[in-house]
Amino acid sequence: MQFAKRSEGINSSFIRDILNLTKNKDIISFAGGLPNPGLFPTDEFASAAENILKDPKLSKEALQYGQSAGYRPLIEIIAKSYKTKDNLDIDPDLILITNGSQQGLDLISKIFINEKDRVLLEGPTYLAALQSMQFYRPEFYSVQLEKDGPKKESLNSAPKDSRLFYCIPNFQNPSGISWSNEKRKLVADFAASQDILLVEDDPYGEIRFEGGRPLPLKTFYEKTVMLGSFSKILAPGLRLGWIIAPNKEFFEKLLLAKQAADLHTSQFTQMIAAKFYENFNSQAHIEKISQVYKKQKDALVSALREHLPDFHFNDIQGGMFIWGSFPEDVDTLSLLDFAVKEGVAYVPGIAFFAKDFQKHNFARLNFSNSQKEDIVLGVKRLRKAYEKYKEQR
Ligand SMILES: Cc1ncc(COP(=O)(O)O)c(C=O)c1O
Repeated sequence: MQFAKRSEGINSSFIRDILNLTKNKDIISFAGGLPNPGLFPTDEFASAAENILKDPKLSKEALQYGQSAGYRPLIEIIAKSYKTKDNLDIDPDLILITNGSQQGLDLISKIFINEKDRVLLEGPTYLAALQSMQFYRPEFYSVQLEKDGPKKESLNSAPKDSRLFYCIPNFQNPSGISWSNEKRKLVADFAASQDILLVEDDPYGEIRFEGGRPLPLKTFYEKTVMLGSFSKILAPGLRLGWIIAPNKEFFEKLLLAKQAADLHTSQFTQMIAAKFYENFNSQAHIEKISQVYKKQKDALVSALREHLPDFHFNDIQGGMFIWGSFPEDVDTLSLLDFAVKEGVAYVPGIAFFAKDFQKHNFARLNFSNSQKEDIVLGVKRLRKAYEKYKEQR
């Protein structure tokens, strides 16, 4: 069949293919990016839903069509949260609630990217962002990363006529890197010097194990769009995220795109999230998630150090992923076949690189969705797979 040109060359999601493969219960999967379901606030949601549905006024509101911008009390909760965590004054009229931050990415791309526009990304980057932007047919340029954020030389050699820089400065997916404040300032100055739009995606910033919260890019540079999500701090099944537009003009364009896409995000789930924030201690909930993930992360880090010394990685201060590399001559895509045969899966690093900067010896391991015993067993299986791979090469 003849499809629209914009859909050509879009690869099916690597991760989805791998997740299919890991549906087999015997496989220990470090592949997905799934939150720990044991931490979903189910009782709190049940009570919130009951509250809403048993109240004649709230139930009508929840089940009726709603505003395209989103449910106002939830918008105000989001604006307030930036004051608390970042001392940032956010105008609630610039917040648009989206169907997960994934939709935010699509809407921003839709209103801002023309075919052949240059888009800067981190190398590596979130692969579904790559996929989402690919529909609008830009040309990607990958800014290489080091321990504390983008490499200065790589940033300086980026094309001068770029439109936007999409980045994940807090506990990046996949690398786990968190940019230092110096790197944030560097990128903001670079963007200002070339009038580039910054798109700051931050679904993991609150999943912090140690250290203080760095400054958002928006503190340094006004022309920044912020993306946020409730997926990692409440539950991804709510499908709730948000965009903070840099100004009214940008917001109005986004609103049009949102209306055209789906009229509005589910009023019911927005109200459940708002009730959660009103009636329960959201900060305590986020701290609990961070503590559990820290233990899971520690288990993975020590198992890797003990059983897989050829895998080099940096420890992380938050987020959900360990990212690292095998020796240069290892192809993690081929190694994956061996791993799956041994009963363990991960995502080969190549999935996270745009075409201009691909590396074949990296892998991303997720720890949030595996128990400690499975984490240790999974790493031992990976070690076995790695040995067999080396033997048979
Ligand atoms: C960096 C990044 N951005 C956006 C998303 C999409 O999140 P959601 O649509 O669930 O809010 C994810 C999901 O894993 C992510 O890792």
